Amino acid sequence: MGFDSFGESHAERLEVRWGGADWWEAVAGGAVEEAGRSLLTPRQTVSVFALPVTELKDLNERQVRGMIEAGERDEERLVAALGTWPTRWPAGRRVRLSFLGINLSMRCDMQPRCVYCNQQPVAEQMTPADWRQVLAGLAAAEAEGEGPYVFFTGGEPLLFAEELWGPGGLLRTAHAAGAVCNVNTNALALTPTAALGLVSAGLGRVHISLDTHRPEAQDALRGGSGRWQQVMRGICNLQIAKALLGVQHPVIHVNCVLTRRNADDFPEFLRFLLSLRPRQAEGLSGDFDMHLIPVGGEQNRELRLTADEYVRFFTETGARAEEVWQEYQTEQEVPADQRGPLQEKVPFMSPFHRVEQRGDLREWAETAAQGRPAELALTPRCYVAPTQSFLLPDGSQYWCGGHATSRPEPLGQVRGAGVAENIQRSVGQVACLPGPHCHTCAGATQAINRSVENALRQTVREWLSPEGEGEAVGEVGEGGFE
Ligand SMILES: C[S@@+](CC[C@H](N)C(=O)[O-])C[C@H]1O[C@@H](n2cnc3c(N)ncnc32)[C@H](O)[C@@H]1O
Ligand code: SF4
Ligand code: SF4
Repeated sequence: MGFDSFGESHAERLEVRWGGADWWEAVAGGAVEEAGRSLLTPRQTVSVFALPVTELKDLNERQVRGMIEAGERDEERLVAALGTWPTRWPAGRRVRLSFLGINLSMRCDMQPRCVYCNQQPVAEQMTPADWRQVLAGLAAAEAEGEGPYVFFTGGEPLLFAEELWGPGGLLRTAHAAGAVCNVNTNALALTPTAALGLVSAGLGRVHISLDTHRPEAQDALRGGSGRWQQVMRGICNLQIAKALLGVQHPVIHVNCVLTRRNADDFPEFLRFLLSLRPRQAEGLSGDFDMHLIPVGGEQNRELRLTADEYVRFFTETGARAEEVWQEYQTEQEVPADQRGPLQEKVPFMSPFHRVEQRGDLREWAETAAQGRPAELALTPRCYVAPTQSFLLPDGSQYWCGGHATSRPEPLGQVRGAGVAENIQRSVGQVACLPGPHCHTCAGATQAINRSVENALRQTVREWLSPEGEGEAVGEVGEGGFE
C-alpha cells in the first residue's frame, strides 16, 4: 500500500507501522475484508446551532409577534421572550436532541493517570445493554439528517472494544438510530483491529488527546515513558485503516490541554500536526485541527497559565503560530482568495477568539487564570440545554458536558426513564441557567449559545422592521459540532 498523499516523513512513519506484525495478522485474519463488507458511512445530523433557533421560534413566535403588535419595541425584552424555554413542556410535543454526550465508564488504561485528569468517580452502573437501549431510544421518528451527534468519552471509551465498534456495538446502534458518532480517546487501545472497527462502524469524528510534539513533555503529562509513541501508533493505525477502506471518515481531531508545560510548544506543535495531514485533490484536509482546552480543575492551579502568560500566549505565541499557518497555506498552494488567518479558518482552536467575550484579552486572561475561562462569554440565558444532554456511567443525566463535570443535581436517571422524558419533566430548571455551575461551560456550547442569541436577535429585528430589513447582528454559526 502507498502513502503518497502524505508528506515524506509521515509517509515513512506510516510505512513502518503498516509493516508491523499486528497489521499482517489483521490482513491475514480477514479483518480488512470484513470491515469493508460491513462498512457504514456517517450520517448527516441536525445542526447544533440551528436546532435551538428552530425550536424556540416554533414555541414562541406567536407570543413575540403578539407583543410587537401590542406596541412592544424593546429589543432585549423581545429577544428574552423569544429565547425562553417554557417552564412546563407542552403536551404532545416531542423533544428534539442535537447532542448527546456519553461518559461510558471512568475506567482508564492510562496508568498512572494523566497529571491533570480531574475526573470524579461515580458508580459504574450502566451495562452495554443499558447504553444500547438509550441509543436505540434516540430513533423516535427522526427523519434522515435529523439525528443527534453522539459523543462518547470516559475514562477510556476504547476499553469497551467490540462493545463499542463491533457488530451489534454502540456505534452501529447509534448509526441505526440516525446519529453520527464521535469518540474521544487517548488512542492507547487504537490497534489495527480497533481502527478498522471504528472506520467500518461509520464513526464520524475522533478526538485524540495529544498535547505536544515533544515526546518527553507529553510523557510527563500523560502516563509516563513511551506514551507519546503509543498515541502516534494509534494515529497511524487509524490513518492506515482509512486508507485501506478508501474513506475520509472519521475526521481525526486533536484535543490539546493547554498548560504551562506545553503553551510555548503551540507553534511547533501546530507545524507537527499539519505535517500529519494528507494532501487532497481539492481544499485542505480537515484532519488534525486542534481544540485548545484550558486546563480545568481546582487541583490544577499550578499547571494553569497566569493572566500574563495567557496574554503572552494569545499575542506572541499566537503570532508565531500564525506564521506557521501562513507558511503551510503557501506550501499547500492554497489560492489567495481562499486563504485566511488561523483564527478565522480554525476558530475553535482558540478558547478566547472563538466566542465574543464581554471584555478584552486582559480581562479574559484574568478570569481564565482563575479557572473560569467561560465566564465572559456566557449569554444571559442558556438556549441549548433542552436540545442536549450528557450521561455518566451511573446513568445520571445532565443538561450538558459542563454540568456533567461540575455536577449539580442531575436532571434525571436513564435507568428507568428515557433521555427525552427526563428533559420534558425537568425543563422548568432551564430558567435558572446559566447557573453557579456554568463556569465549566465548554467552548462549543458557549459558541452555540452566542450564535443562537444572534440568530434570535436578527429575527426580532426583522419582525420589528415593517420592510423586513433588520440590521445584521454578529455571527450566526452553521454546520456540525466540532
Ligand atoms: C477525560 S478525557 C476522556 C477521554 C480519553 N481518556 C482521553 O483522555 O482522551 C476527555 C478529554 O478531557 C481532557 N482533559 C482531561 N483532564 C482535563 C482537565 N483537567 N482540563 C481540561 N481538559 C482535560 C483530555 O485531554 C481529553 O481530551
Ligand atoms: S487518558 Fe483520559 S481519562 Fe485517562 S487519565 Fe488521561 S485524561 Fe483521564
Ligand atoms: S454550562 Fe450552563 S450555559 Fe453552558 S451549556 Fe451547560 S447549562 Fe448551558
